[in-house]
Amino acid sequence: MWSLVILILLSLFAYILTDELIYKLQSLFINAGLFGIDLCKVSKEKIYFHFSPEAIGVISGCVFLITILLFIPIGFGYSLMDRGNFPHHEFAELLAALLSICCMLLLGFADDVLNLKWRYKLLLPTIASLPLLVVYYVNFNSTTFIIPIPLRQFFGISVNIGFLYYIYMGMLAVFCTNAINILAGINGLEVGQSVIIALSIILFNIIELRGDQYKAHNFSLHIMIPYLATTLALLKHNWYPSKVFVGDTFCYVSGMTFAVVGILSHFSKTVLLFFLPQIINFLYSVPQLFHIVPCPRHRLPKYSAETDLLRASRTVVLKKDMPLLTKVVLRIFTSLKLVDKVEDKDGVILNNMTLINLVLIKLGPMSEVQLTKTLLVFQIFCTCIAFLIRYPMASYFYDL
Ligand code: UD1
Ligand code: MG
Repeated sequence: MWSLVILILLSLFAYILTDELIYKLQSLFINAGLFGIDLCKVSKEKIYFHFSPEAIGVISGCVFLITILLFIPIGFGYSLMDRGNFPHHEFAELLAALLSICCMLLLGFADDVLNLKWRYKLLLPTIASLPLLVVYYVNFNSTTFIIPIPLRQFFGISVNIGFLYYIYMGMLAVFCTNAINILAGINGLEVGQSVIIALSIILFNIIELRGDQYKAHNFSLHIMIPYLATTLALLKHNWYPSKVFVGDTFCYVSGMTFAVVGILSHFSKTVLLFFLPQIINFLYSVPQLFHIVPCPRHRLPKYSAETDLLRASRTVVLKKDMPLLTKVVLRIFTSLKLVDKVEDKDGVILNNMTLINLVLIKLGPMSEVQLTKTLLVFQIFCTCIAFLIRYPMASYFYDL
C-alpha cells in the first residue's frame, strides 16, 4: 500500500518534469531536423505551414522509464535488507518488462529518425518481446486457454496450446505497438486513445486487487501509474492545436507497455477488449495494409481551408491494375456500405480505409478537434462494452 502511495507521488513529479522538459527541449528536436508538418492545417494552396517537433514521445518515454528505475530501490527496499528472501522472480519480471519497453523506445526513435520499412515495424516488436516470453516461460509457463461454457461440449474445459501460446503473445506485442500507430494523424488521437486504454487497465487492476490475483494486478499498477502520468503531460502539448508530434516512439512504447502488463499480469484477453477500436481499424485497414487496395504514405483525412473542416482522404484504384481479389474486396466493402466510392472510366476513387475516414463518411465533414473527440468518445464507449463483457456477461461464458 505504502509503495503505491510513494509511486503516485513520484508519478506526480514525473508529470511535472515531462511537462517542463517538453516545453524546454522542443528547439533541440527542431535543430536536429526532427519536425513534421501538420497535414491537417495545410491548405491546398499552402498558404501557411505549421511545423512541430516530431518524436517528442521519447521525452515522456524516458521520464516514464526513469520513474520506474528510481522506484526499484523503494519497491524492493524491504527485501534488500533480507537478501536471503529476495523475490528474484518478481525482480526478473520487472527487469524484463523494462527491457522490452526500453527496446521499443530505442527502435521507435530509430523509426522516427530513419523512417523504417513496414517489415521492420513488424519484426522489431517481435524481437523486443523475447525477454518477456522467456520470463513468462520461467515463472508461469501456463499455456492453457479456458474454453467458454457454450463451446465446452466440443473442446472440453480447457485446451493446452503449448508453443502456440508464445506465438500468440509475440503477436500481441506486434499488434499493440502497430495498432495505435495506424489509428493516428489528427491532433491528440494517438495520446488520447492511449490515456483511455491506460485508465481502463488501471480501473480493471483496482477492481481485481480484491481478487486472488492481486499480486499480478499490483505489478500492473506499478507500471501503468507512471505511464499514465507521463502520457497526460504529453497530451497537454499534443492536444489540438498540437505544439508537438509524438512520433512512432510514443506509439511503440505505449503498445509495448500495454502488452507487457497484459502478458505478465495474465489479462491479455482483457487488454484486447480495451483495444476494440484499434481492432476495428486494423480489420478495416487490412486491404490497404496488404496492398490489395493501393495504400498512400499518409491516410489521414484531408483538410479544406475554405471550410476549415476535415473530410475523408481518398485513394485511386486504376481499372488496368485491378486484379480479381481487389474487385471482390471492393464489392464486399461496397455492399456493406463501408466505403464511399466513385467510379469513372479509368478506375475507382474510394476513401482510405481507416476508422477516422469511416467516421467522416458516416457523420460528414467535421473540425479536427471534433473528430478527435468523437473517436475518443467511441474509445470510452468500447471500454464500457469491454467491462460489460468482462463482468456481468462473463458469468454466461465462464464459471465464476
Ligand atoms: C501512420 C499511418 C498513416 C498516417 C500517419 C499519421 C498507416 C499504414 N499509416 O503512418 O496513414 O497518415 O500514421 O501519423 O495507417 N501528423 C499530422 N497531425 C497529427 C499527427 C501526425 O499532420 O496530429 C503528420 C505529420 O506530418 C507527422 C506525420 O503525420 O510528421 C507522422 O507520421 P508517421 O508517424 O511517420 O506515419 P506512420 O506511423 O508511418
Ligand atoms: Mg506514426
